[in-house]
Amino acid sequence: MDIVERIIVSEEAIQERVQELAADISRDYAGKTITLLCVLKGGLMFLCDLAKHITQPVEYDFMSVSSYGDATETSGIVRITKDLEESLEGKHVLIVEDIIDTGLTLNYLVKILQSRNPASLRICTLLTKPANRRVEIPIDYVGFEVPNEFLVGYGLDYKQLYRNVPYVFVPSKELLERA
Ligand code: PRP
Repeated sequence: MDIVERIIVSEEAIQERVQELAADISRDYAGKTITLLCVLKGGLMFLCDLAKHITQPVEYDFMSVSSYGDATETSGIVRITKDLEESLEGKHVLIVEDIIDTGLTLNYLVKILQSRNPASLRICTLLTKPANRRVEIPIDYVGFEVPNEFLVGYGLDYKQLYRNVPYVFVPSKELLERA
């Protein structure tokens, strides 16, 4: 079965952009240690690729905030399913996301994280869907603007699968119609 209807961001384009973002981040955080905060599960692939090209000292921590479950549209209800292991006090925190869609997840997350007194808090997302935004949030680093379509791959799942595909695509009707 062909799972792809159309590729939206190719593997080559992602890898090239990741290197550009890592160069910007390395320059902006010169002399500082960066705490990369991975929002699981979607942010994992992006964090790994991004971290490889950052030249400043980097530490990771992981958090799960879910609003979608297995649905294709946000429920609007955000819940923390896994919290961080380390304090953020005095740290330079960079949230790493695969996609910002409605903005509801990040809007919620930023408020929680700000209350933990980091030295700085910024957001890096590979993808943004501005057409679907319900709440405005300032994004510091953006890979690509994408159309308001259901997308899969490079961290984005369909029923928890296909996060490992190295490009971002619109899934085929055949895939979506499969029970
Ligand atoms: C996705 C994505 C963001 C959020 C963005 O996570 O990784 O965290 O949705 O959507 P929003 O801007 O509309 O809030 P999801 O809840 O699907 O969890 P996952 O990363 O485990 O797939």
